[in-house]
Amino acid sequence: MAHFDAYSRLINYLRIAVTDRCNLRCIYCMPPEGVPWRPHEAILRYEEIVTVVRAAAELGISRVRLTGGEPLVRLGIVDLVRLLSRIPGIEDLAMTTNGILLSRYAQALAEAGLQRVNVSLDTLRADRFQRITCWGQIADVLAGIEAAHRAGLEPVKINTVVIRGMNDDEVVDLARQTIEAEWNVRFIEWMPVGNAQGVVDGGWQERVVTAKEMRERIEAALGALEPAKLGIGGGPARYYRLAGGKGTIGFITPLSEHFCYHCNRLRLTADGQLRPCLLSDREIDLRTPLRQGADVAHIKTLILQGIESKPLRHHLSECELPENRTMSQIGG
Ligand code: 5AD
Ligand code: SF4
Repeated sequence: MAHFDAYSRLINYLRIAVTDRCNLRCIYCMPPEGVPWRPHEAILRYEEIVTVVRAAAELGISRVRLTGGEPLVRLGIVDLVRLLSRIPGIEDLAMTTNGILLSRYAQALAEAGLQRVNVSLDTLRADRFQRITCWGQIADVLAGIEAAHRAGLEPVKINTVVIRGMNDDEVVDLARQTIEAEWNVRFIEWMPVGNAQGVVDGGWQERVVTAKEMRERIEAALGALEPAKLGIGGGPARYYRLAGGKGTIGFITPLSEHFCYHCNRLRLTADGQLRPCLLSDREIDLRTPLRQGADVAHIKTLILQGIESKPLRHHLSECELPENRTMSQIGG
């Protein structure tokens, strides 16, 4: 049976960070030296994640997304996908990845039951990609996107965080990709969390590019955007299409039009803390009870507490930021 929170929002979606580690260092996310990784024993084991997902599924959570850090750097990730895809009630199993290792794993992930992927890509220029990510090779990501299509991990969505002075001059180029290729590009307004000081020193407001501004730039260069639907999803993006375009263009607007009022999700951090809201520091510890032998029924009561205590909205625009974790630890 599905459950509603205190504000009548149906909670049916769980995002799981399977690791806090990453093989890139995107400047807005992590400092080049990295952040101290949590020790191995602090990270949930696969059988513990399975218990949490079984409990969540019994509460009506039917959609699961694996994130990180970078989920593909965790050993045995294909095995986890196989275990989760077999849990009754899980109808949609997806992953968010930076794409670096995707060409290696796409086929095996699809065979194990992964349904689709979102790939992060903030630029189309090889030199800029390297600068933003500290050492990534864009060719690996492009090969990963191709491999995902070949493996049928559809629809493949491309996540682009837009920051003024970093890549805002490429919004039109990225949008243009959706005309010829089946790319579904989602432009994300940057949130000043994580490693914000990697991007700005001082005021961050002027670095935020609103969806309205992106849209105006795209329409001025490429013509009108028509509302579109993109199959499965149910996340916060709104989708459009350019005339004759094969793919779609989406906007995710945590700042300019926050979507908290129809937020449907919970998050599980890599170290086993249930986080009702990305941008609130409140967490419910699942790891301790799991290690004390808690069963599915017990974990269900804790998840219900998470659902019931989900805050109404975030207060980013009033400069209230989460303080206890970086994005890579929460799972974006
Ligand atoms: N603001 C907006 N999006 C972010 N992401 C990481 N950090 C931020 C931020 N500060 C994105 C990643 C990825 C997704 C998981 O979250 O680029 O696409
Ligand atoms: Fe939901 Fe919190 Fe995200 Fe707002 S910030 S959409 S309340 S998870």
